[in-house]
Amino acid sequence: MRVMNTSRLKLPGANRGSADTIRSLLPYLWPKGDPQARSRVVVASALLILAKVATVYVPIVYSHAVDALSPKHNNLALVIPAAMIVAYGLLRVGSAGFAELRDAVFASVQQRTVRSVALQTFEHMHRLSMRFHLDRQTGGVSRAIERGSAGIEQVLRFAVFNIVPTLAELVMVTVILWRVSDWRFAVVTFAAVAVYIAFTLAFATWRVRFRQRMNDKDTEAQSKAVDSLLNYETVKYFGNEAHEARRFDEALAAYEKAAVKSQVTLNMLNLGQAAIISAALALVMLMAASGVVHGTMSVGKFVLVNTYLMQLYQPLNFLGFAYNTIKQGLVDMEQMFRLLSVEQEVQDRPHALDLAGHLTEQPPCAVEFDNVHFGYQPEREILKGVSFKVPAGHKVAVVGPTGAGKSTMSRLLFRFYDVTSGSVRIDGHDIRDYTQTSLRAAIGVVPQDTVLFNDTIRYNIAYGRPGATQDQIEHAARLAQVHDFVQGMPDGYDTRVGERGLKLSGGEKQRVAIARTILKDPRLLILDEATSALDTRTERDIESALRAVSAQRTTLVIAHRLSTVVDSDEILVLADGRIVERGTHRDLLAQDGVYAHMWALQAEQAEIEVAEQEAVLF
Ligand SMILES: Nc1ncnc2c1ncn2[C@@H]1O[C@H](COP(=O)(O)OP(=O)(O)OP(=O)(O)O)[C@@H](O)[C@H]1O
Ligand SMILES: [Mg+2]
Repeated sequence: MRVMNTSRLKLPGANRGSADTIRSLLPYLWPKGDPQARSRVVVASALLILAKVATVYVPIVYSHAVDALSPKHNNLALVIPAAMIVAYGLLRVGSAGFAELRDAVFASVQQRTVRSVALQTFEHMHRLSMRFHLDRQTGGVSRAIERGSAGIEQVLRFAVFNIVPTLAELVMVTVILWRVSDWRFAVVTFAAVAVYIAFTLAFATWRVRFRQRMNDKDTEAQSKAVDSLLNYETVKYFGNEAHEARRFDEALAAYEKAAVKSQVTLNMLNLGQAAIISAALALVMLMAASGVVHGTMSVGKFVLVNTYLMQLYQPLNFLGFAYNTIKQGLVDMEQMFRLLSVEQEVQDRPHALDLAGHLTEQPPCAVEFDNVHFGYQPEREILKGVSFKVPAGHKVAVVGPTGAGKSTMSRLLFRFYDVTSGSVRIDGHDIRDYTQTSLRAAIGVVPQDTVLFNDTIRYNIAYGRPGATQDQIEHAARLAQVHDFVQGMPDGYDTRVGERGLKLSGGEKQRVAIARTILKDPRLLILDEATSALDTRTERDIESALRAVSAQRTTLVIAHRLSTVVDSDEILVLADGRIVERGTHRDLLAQDGVYAHMWALQAEQAEIEVAEQEAVLF
């Protein structure tokens, strides 16, 4: 089960221990450069000590009060017992009050930790490679983060301020018990505590597996649910609701089984703990009662021993509970921290260069592929030695059969992946020498499959340059031939585009994508089938706009429809990972090779289309 889950999320380091997880948490608890948080931790610790001291003193004062009330002290009237009782009350208030204050003071440190770990994980997710994101299951990852945040909260609540102090309290109480009674009491108590702790540790460690299985199944169920809902349309097209429900329910059933096991073993653990404590309690009470009968112990002492035992019982019980919760919290956190430890595949070099991003600042850039080899998997090479140059401001087109590796070239330029060998250069430098941020700022991509954010059209266009004004947005929309369409919508630029932009037609989505790339104002423009979803007429209109936009920029066009690339400075025909022909449209036709053949086929097709259009018109 576990193996399956790790492979789903591609998480390395499956044997990260609890110790590693706790260690990852420590820096957040003693944050560098945040004296306020540090002082809160100190104050909370002080409050904790006060609370514990008050708690330990409560039974002592109580026993004095009882003794003061016993018959032989009767002549001293009410003064001493009353004073004792008031002190008792104050101590109790202190013990509870300091504990609450401690939590109040610590709350902001705790929540800050949860926040920064969650933020860090989120940022890290965005740094991870395309490879990771294509393999991940959105539902599962978001669930891991959610559980991890809750886990941190729990671990902090219990680990920092409960386990250690409770252990200290246990030791204090055992010592006091020894001092006020005799060594036999201490031995029995100590033995009981030792057995209790050993039992709890062993049992809790054993049952962690059920929690892990629960998490795995939970992740699996969530992944299936999210994947299925994202593909709502497909589910409907094939009428597979029942199939989806069954898959989801299978995961839920496995979760149910693990959850029941986890609950039952928890009950068994609690039962065992209660049995150990109760047996010890009964034994000590018997010993104390015999002491009172034989006159070796006062009633006050008896009460004291009893109270301490009760006071021992509580923290012990709590210790068991806290240990379980922490163990669970650690299991929950582990996955999140493992996400954090996934290595970044594409990394900046130290002292990486800065590539100027926008055309308004710098001239267009020159691009060069030099004997580039690349494969997504080592055993299957996609690009097999591709070399070409795009001089600054020129337009180069890549055409070729589907699956030839055209989009792969744009992914390499954008550094979603690094080349296996050879190099991709911009302005003479290997792109691996630039920072990824600056490299990506300089490149604008209109991807083959456009997906939009589930927000307004304005938001989606402005995404190309956050903070753009309405004028700039409209200018870009006009160039992309989408302004009139937006104006015609009842909500105009505030029209919401729906999940992944599915409320827009394919062509509308594509034009929004073009507008946001125009707004980005990149020095290098990559158009990957940018007009494939448009009808011939709109395509012509937009072609002229794109021509205007790409006139000053270096442009790489990938297209199936050859009529859109005839004006390119150079056309590369890519087939099976190699450039098989290159030249201008005219050269290639003259060569009478692959390109000329493709052209002839498409010309035939175009004639049919023209004939069809005429048939519709007349
Ligand atoms: N992330 C990936 N992991 C593994 N293989 C991939 C991945 N992405 C693409 N491929 C494979 O690489 C090959 C080239 O893909 P690419 O997307 O570059 O083709 P293309 O030339 O753009 O095709 P099309 O014209 O259909 O868009 C394909 O055979 C594809 O199956
Ligand atoms: Mg493609």
